[in-house]
Amino acid sequence: MQILAIETSCDETSAAVVKDGREVLSNIVSTQIEFHKKYGGIVPEIAARKHIEVINPIIAEALDKAKTTFKKIDAVAVTYGPGLVGSLLIGLCAAKAIAYAADKPLIGINHLEGHIYANFLVQAPKFPFICLMVSGGHTMIVCVKDHGKYEIIGRTRDDAVGEAFDKVARFLGLGYPGGPIIDKLSKEGNPKAIEFTRPMLDDGFDFSFSGIKTAVVNYVNRNRTSKRPIVTENVADIAASFQQACVDVLVTKTLRAAQKKKVKTIALAGGVAANSLLRREFLAIPSHSLSSLLIPSLDLCTDNAAMIGAAAYYKFKKKQFADLDLKPVANLSL
Ligand code: KG4
Ligand code: ZN
Repeated sequence: MQILAIETSCDETSAAVVKDGREVLSNIVSTQIEFHKKYGGIVPEIAARKHIEVINPIIAEALDKAKTTFKKIDAVAVTYGPGLVGSLLIGLCAAKAIAYAADKPLIGINHLEGHIYANFLVQAPKFPFICLMVSGGHTMIVCVKDHGKYEIIGRTRDDAVGEAFDKVARFLGLGYPGGPIIDKLSKEGNPKAIEFTRPMLDDGFDFSFSGIKTAVVNYVNRNRTSKRPIVTENVADIAASFQQACVDVLVTKTLRAAQKKKVKTIALAGGVAANSLLRREFLAIPSHSLSSLLIPSLDLCTDNAAMIGAAAYYKFKKKQFADLDLKPVANLSL
């Protein structure tokens, strides 16, 4: 069975065709980063307009690449939250129009659930498993007990980790989006150069990334001089030390959660799961502490429609269909 999936929750317009919840026949992603870069972040109004411009060609390309048609697909899946309401609306309108015109069931998917289900495109994990969900808008440790059954064990109390990467990069004048830029720059820096704080490291499962971000700002301000307004000579060391602090907290707390739940399978999800240090540190965990580690490929970590198609397959099997009046929910929770 084939699902056409559509994802427009933020600044990526994506359409995919996924077969049997496992096989990605196509996964087309059009990013708007170039249009938002000069503002140092996403401008919701621009995001919605850009989605409108490309949504139809992206869907056509996804069908073409998968050698399928509206007639041949079995269902249409779409992200209905969380995200920017104007952006979500464009994907929803397109999906509803196709479902109505082609007389196919509509499946509404939570974007966060989509990120978790990117792992089912790697190799279906056995339940229960611990998922570290790290994106631009969310940071949480989730115990996934079964399809659609989630227990949130820990979450950020302030900034999401991706948000902290983006804010630190902007503060250092490095550009947008900050995650990939800091990841790349860190390769030239010493992660032990500056000992940034690791908030709440020994305390429970919640996170605070705003504290690490402030530590970077304070460090730079302390080292500013009137001649040199920003420390430029060790910016790679700052980036690498900041990244190390974030990754240390993420890895420590995820392992602690797995131990508490007596679970030996860990999965990563979300844009920050593309971070090379985070991936490396999880891969370095000895096999006696972890029997199975799932890390989606880079293109399945960041926003894409294939993960939405994977999540939709399990809803299709349970006939959990949405009505055609499905509305966007900007703050939808898991
Ligand atoms: O999941 P995603 O594509 O969109 C949201 O749902 O938020 O995540 C985007 C976030 C951004 O904050 C971006 O800076 C971060 O993921 N990101 C990274 C990397 N690639 C993307 N953060 C750290 N290292 C990376 N390589
Ligand atoms: Zn996302």
